[in-house]
Amino acid sequence: MADTAEMAETAELRVGDQTVQLPVITGSEGERAIDISRLRAETGCITLDPGYANTGSCQSAITFIDGEKGILRYRGIPIEELAEKSNFLEVSYLLMYGNLPNADQLDYFTNSINHHTMLHEDFRKFYASLPKDAHPMAACSAAVGALATFYPDSLDPRDEHEVEVSVHRLIAKFPTLASYAYKHSVGQPFMYPNNGFDYVGNFMWMMFGNPCEEYEVDEVVRKALDLLFILHADHEQNCSTSTTRLVGSSMVNLFGAISAGINSLWGPLHGGANQQVIDMLAAIRDEGMTGRQFVERAKSNDDTSRLMGFGHRVYKNFDPRARIIKKACFDVLNQLGVHSPLLEIAVELEEIALKDDYFVERKLYPNVDFYSGVIYNAIGTPSNMFTALFALGRLPGWIAQWIELHSDPDFRIGRPRQIYTGPTQNAWIPVEER
Ligand code: ACO
Repeated sequence: MADTAEMAETAELRVGDQTVQLPVITGSEGERAIDISRLRAETGCITLDPGYANTGSCQSAITFIDGEKGILRYRGIPIEELAEKSNFLEVSYLLMYGNLPNADQLDYFTNSINHHTMLHEDFRKFYASLPKDAHPMAACSAAVGALATFYPDSLDPRDEHEVEVSVHRLIAKFPTLASYAYKHSVGQPFMYPNNGFDYVGNFMWMMFGNPCEEYEVDEVVRKALDLLFILHADHEQNCSTSTTRLVGSSMVNLFGAISAGINSLWGPLHGGANQQVIDMLAAIRDEGMTGRQFVERAKSNDDTSRLMGFGHRVYKNFDPRARIIKKACFDVLNQLGVHSPLLEIAVELEEIALKDDYFVERKLYPNVDFYSGVIYNAIGTPSNMFTALFALGRLPGWIAQWIELHSDPDFRIGRPRQIYTGPTQNAWIPVEER
């Protein structure tokens, strides 16, 4: 449940000749919000905030971001520390249950996840019915929605046991679902999970293994993926998380809410940017463009291309995840002995943009997606799978936020209002008179 913020002062708002006092609440890190929940009842007015840049949709005790200082913490623990010392399943537990697990809790959780990795055999037919070139994000969203049809026994969002079962199923089965989407697209056999591997190793086996050959999990790659999943695991009320909460607020089951979140993540302005970044770097290489020429294009009003992987609604300073990923990118490529011209182009673009007045004035820095694709690319992941890997990492965050939503004392269906600007009352005209 969200810890409740403190209320110590009020704000005064004058609308026409009416003055109302609005409570100001303060979060545990000192951020302040004017509580307008009584505004319409008292004044008849609503607030208008396109893109919700000034709107807090909930109180949450999961993730803290200070975008000005470049701080990110899960349940109070700095991302840098988790990246260095933890692993993805432990971080998943931390986000969803609110605390780091002790040894027994971690053991139980890991075992439970391990024992739910298999999919119903009919999922083979499900994937077989999709076109070969189906985008993995469309396939993953559909497959997660379809889990509700296979497990109608655990769909009640307010039944503690059913929630626990469906949460474990979803975390366990998503790597299998995502790897099936990939295997289907390349026409290779679906790989059954092998629970002898750990969570990330199992995903690698299902993605990159095949039934004809022995498969050895490369430790450098496993660690790199584990790190990337930790860094993607939650990011408070971003577009896909807000989608998951909004859809979840209709009391739909977990699978329905997360399926919607996956679609939201797919967009190029959100998680889909990781695929766009690698496509952008490859286009610069293939067209023989210089970094400077591309940056000029991204700044131009006459061109719709943006410098993908740059800019963020909240970070107006370095995205701390991007710092960690950039370093990991050099380390991993070095350890794998991979020379990547795409990495060289990315470094050149970053150097140019960080010194360019356009990006400096707008406080546009590399975000989480700028270097992650270079790592995925170097370990042999096709670019259309990048966003599915992001979804795999974000899963515990979406789930934690969905669970928190359902225990919020202020729970209500999400239902924003609007200011209507269409025609005023109009009469219907018979077709022959139009
Ligand atoms: N390249 C060029 N210009 C940019 C970029 C960019 N990547 N990002 C923002 N700008 C410019 C805008 O054109 C705008 O300029 P203006 O004031 O002259 O009109 C200004 O910076 C502010 O941009 P907005 O789009 O208003 O900022 P917003 O907070 O709404 O959008 C977003 C943030 C969507 C991330 C944006 O920076 C963007 O499109 N970046 C590229 C896509 C991307 O990398 N997305 C991933 C984000 S991280 C994530 O979701 C996981």
